[in-house]
Amino acid sequence: MNRTRLAILGSTGSIGLSTLDVIARHPDRYEVFALAARNNVGRLLEQCIRFRPRFAVVVETSAALKLRAELAPAGMKTEVLSGAQALADIAAHPEVDAVMAAIVGAAGLRSSLAAACAGKRVMLANKEALVMSGPLFMQAVREGGATLIPVDSEHNAIFQCMGGDRARGVRRVLLTASGGPFLRAPEQVLRSATPDQACAHPRWVMGRKISVDSATLMNKGLELIEACLLFDLAPSRVEVVVHPQSIVHSFVEYLDGSMLAQLGNPDMRTPIAHALGWPDRLPSGVESLDLIRTARLDFEAPDMGRFPCLRLARNAAEAGGTTPAVLNAANEVAVDAFLEGRLGFLDIPGVIEDVLAKHGNAPVVSLEDVLGADEWARAQARAAAAITGACA
Ligand SMILES: NC(=O)c1ccc[n+]([C@@H]2O[C@H](COP(=O)([O-])OP(=O)(O)OC[C@H]3O[C@@H](n4cnc5c(N)ncnc54)[C@H](OP(=O)(O)O)[C@@H]3O)[C@@H](O)[C@H]2O)c1
Repeated sequence: MNRTRLAILGSTGSIGLSTLDVIARHPDRYEVFALAARNNVGRLLEQCIRFRPRFAVVVETSAALKLRAELAPAGMKTEVLSGAQALADIAAHPEVDAVMAAIVGAAGLRSSLAAACAGKRVMLANKEALVMSGPLFMQAVREGGATLIPVDSEHNAIFQCMGGDRARGVRRVLLTASGGPFLRAPEQVLRSATPDQACAHPRWVMGRKISVDSATLMNKGLELIEACLLFDLAPSRVEVVVHPQSIVHSFVEYLDGSMLAQLGNPDMRTPIAHALGWPDRLPSGVESLDLIRTARLDFEAPDMGRFPCLRLARNAAEAGGTTPAVLNAANEVAVDAFLEGRLGFLDIPGVIEDVLAKHGNAPVVSLEDVLGADEWARAQARAAAAITGACA
């Protein structure tokens, strides 16, 4: 059997590491063709030595020079490329069969889209790319002949429950949310929350941006938009339910009243192995779920008052057009400002709401529409964050 050639974009991040962990268990099935990151040369070097990819791509030229200098004495033949265009080129490379799209944020848009246009098997963790470009992304998947498999645990769960049969006979889907580290935190704790507290997720180990999104519930909001696009559902048919144990990864309810769920330990190697192997099943290294030890599964409604990001995202899903791109860009800027200590945790939704209030929605017809909305929203959000941060 020919091995599947993989490009892993964002290989140095949390999803990238879990992907390589799964791949290392199946050397007979997978070949790492390319690894890509922003500038984490140390981690990329270790990965190149272990997985011997044909290409390594970094965004920054200085990082490429450093990586080349480290690889040569180790006798490595990996070719090092740099720049955002190189990322997109590697995602669309004719010898690549499948792409793990695991760059965080809007930075992953062009490469995720390039993989879709080139008809690859796209394993999508980079939800921001889909949220921003929405129908354009789905059109690229269709016209490029790509196979799109969601890696986000909730969407992967829905994909599994639907058996690849899209939304036929579906009444609604229920996205589960852990509630993040501040599920029961009183307002004064939220007011003084630090980046480290916000990133200390009780169930999942993730990168810092998605961890803050989990703490504000914006992650669930982005996932709501993602679910509408992936499964062709109106926002009113996607609900969110808080499930602190993070064992049920989502539900699909059918017209006859049947409700299907996918369960498993909270470990991203399960959806990653599913996305890699589908329609086959692969061992992922994840332990069996011990139902007796788990004992109970709790569900509750999200507190929309304390976590306004979920409401903002639902409104954006309903508005469509450029609004989701604006929501995403404002959120990325606000989260960066929070992580850098320039903005309070509770100010994040305020900045996003401020930018959305100024935005005039427009249809998304081309990539330029998306990039224009993204750029405009970033400038607005930076200004709003500077004012809010200075007043805090
Ligand atoms: N972690 C999870 O459990 C999880 C679950 C579901 C979905 N996701 C989604 O998966 C994506 C990745 O999340 P993560 O938690 O793995 O993030 P992460 O740990 O922060 O890793 C981010 C990766 O993206 C790379 N990167 C950052 N900026 C870049 C840029 N401008 N150009 C190219 N590469 C860049 C980083 O490279 P450097 O290391 O060089 O900076 C790193 O490899 C996000 O969209 C997230 O929402 C994550």
